[in-house]
Amino acid sequence: MCGIYGYIGKNDAYQEVLCGLTCLQYRGYDSCGIAYFDDGFKINKAIGTLDNLPQCSEVVSNIAFGHTRWATNGEVNINNTHPHISFDKEFVLVHNGIIKNADTIKRELIDKGIPFYSDTDTEVIANLLSTLTGRIEKRIERLYKLLEGSFSLIIGHKSGKIYLIKRFSPLNILKSDDGIYISSDVSSLKDGLLYTLKDNDIIMIEKNEIIALSNTKINFKIHENKIKEFTMGKFKHYMLKEIFDTPKGIENTYYYLEKQNIRKIFKHFSEFTLLGCGTAYHSCLIGEIYLSKIVRYKVNSCLASNCEISKKIKRNHLHIIVSQSGETADCIKVAEQIKKHNGKILLITNEPSSTMARMADYKIITKAGKELAVASTKTYCTQVFVFAYISQLILNKRFRLDIQKLKNDLDKYIAKIKVNSLVNKLKDKDKLILIGKDIDYALLLEASLKIREIDYIYTIPMYAGELKHGTLSLIDKDSIVLSLNTSNDKTKLDIVKNEINSRGGEVVAVDELIDMSKFNQYFKPIFAIIPFQLISYYIALKKGLNPDMPRNLAKSVTVE
Ligand code: F6R
Repeated sequence: MCGIYGYIGKNDAYQEVLCGLTCLQYRGYDSCGIAYFDDGFKINKAIGTLDNLPQCSEVVSNIAFGHTRWATNGEVNINNTHPHISFDKEFVLVHNGIIKNADTIKRELIDKGIPFYSDTDTEVIANLLSTLTGRIEKRIERLYKLLEGSFSLIIGHKSGKIYLIKRFSPLNILKSDDGIYISSDVSSLKDGLLYTLKDNDIIMIEKNEIIALSNTKINFKIHENKIKEFTMGKFKHYMLKEIFDTPKGIENTYYYLEKQNIRKIFKHFSEFTLLGCGTAYHSCLIGEIYLSKIVRYKVNSCLASNCEISKKIKRNHLHIIVSQSGETADCIKVAEQIKKHNGKILLITNEPSSTMARMADYKIITKAGKELAVASTKTYCTQVFVFAYISQLILNKRFRLDIQKLKNDLDKYIAKIKVNSLVNKLKDKDKLILIGKDIDYALLLEASLKIREIDYIYTIPMYAGELKHGTLSLIDKDSIVLSLNTSNDKTKLDIVKNEINSRGGEVVAVDELIDMSKFNQYFKPIFAIIPFQLISYYIALKKGLNPDMPRNLAKSVTVE
């Protein structure tokens, strides 16, 4: 979470950083701030989004860096907003990550009489650095050893020199004709030569020169600008654009998969654990159904946030981690445990240069294109597509897919979905029950999450048959229950529908809003989830909420 961005070069650094931070705002939007150099660092800060920051600096500076925050240590207020300055004003810094021993260090510093003005672990880093003695590079080296936890840091010294260090959290430098750019997210960087920092690197930037102070060889590689992915085009929100991007993402993922030797990966294994968090976990549940019921593999799914691996892993056992960002801390923690116990990892991710992509033994890249809305939509669909594709491929040696037809069907389907009258019925509800069975239940877990996170409606996904075992007590004449039935067997749901109707509640069958019966059964989950994504999007609009930036959340959860 949080985004950090810096610039040193011939352009107006404040503008460059402001512009860079807009690409990172999806990583956190509680508050933001920029430090720019003008005979010492000056700082602008604001609560909320970047629109609330002064749109230019008082003077044109050539060195600046900034931060967009998702609060972890300390509430959202100006004092807790980055950049943070050390008590003696020697250092200014921005930080992404969490310092685990911050409280201990802070107590020791307070005992020495060092003042603190925020509740953040970042101010602890700044003050600790200022109290260390010796040459700056030695002090930074020492700082690195003293800090526990994860961090990527841009540290500005009062002389105008910039220092970069990182552990676990990502940080990148890009060299271009315009100057040097620093970002926690590769895709926010323009064309140029890229270096992704490694743990233990200490890098200094002075007068447009990048100098490795640690034993590092800075090997730059060519980077192509992906910033165009940060534009919304004709859409008002990223979320809606991304739902409409789904067919293209699936087509691109298919062409990518066709070039991989997937059968070869699976040949080595007969047991699988699927791991992910949130939406990615929900796609694991679909994957589990495909791989266990269709391919008949031994499969189980686990929430990465609730998984502990403490035994040696058998050679025939593959762990498949699904993570859109490849940066989710709970997944990284499990990935480390898997590696420690000699296990193999297949990562399904949308971010090929992410932290987990560097840890995985095998990779499958979903080609959804950058996803910026906090709610995952198109990446979920491409993950489900990957599982459907893999299970078909393994099951049937002659498997061929008419991808053009699938893409065209999806394009037409999305354009035809009408949810307005249902959205009007749902927008003022404070709770909502969703019922289905088998694979539909797995889909409803995802549908429920979308409506909870974007619309702040308390949602209860249920196996249809479970309703009468307790939850039926919630039904009254104001209740609306959403049902989903992508199979041809309607009997069970009809019974439940009667039970709800007789208590005055109404059941809306979402699969009847738009005909999905003619689509290939294996890819139907993709068709089935999209109406729910659109329902959650339009409810947010009706409630005057910003669907791209739900409260309290940020895109990638890089803290455990
Ligand atoms: C919800 C959502 C989250 C993420 C979860 C895992 O819409 O996006 O539940 O799915 O935080 O993120 P990744 O896939 O980046 O590991």
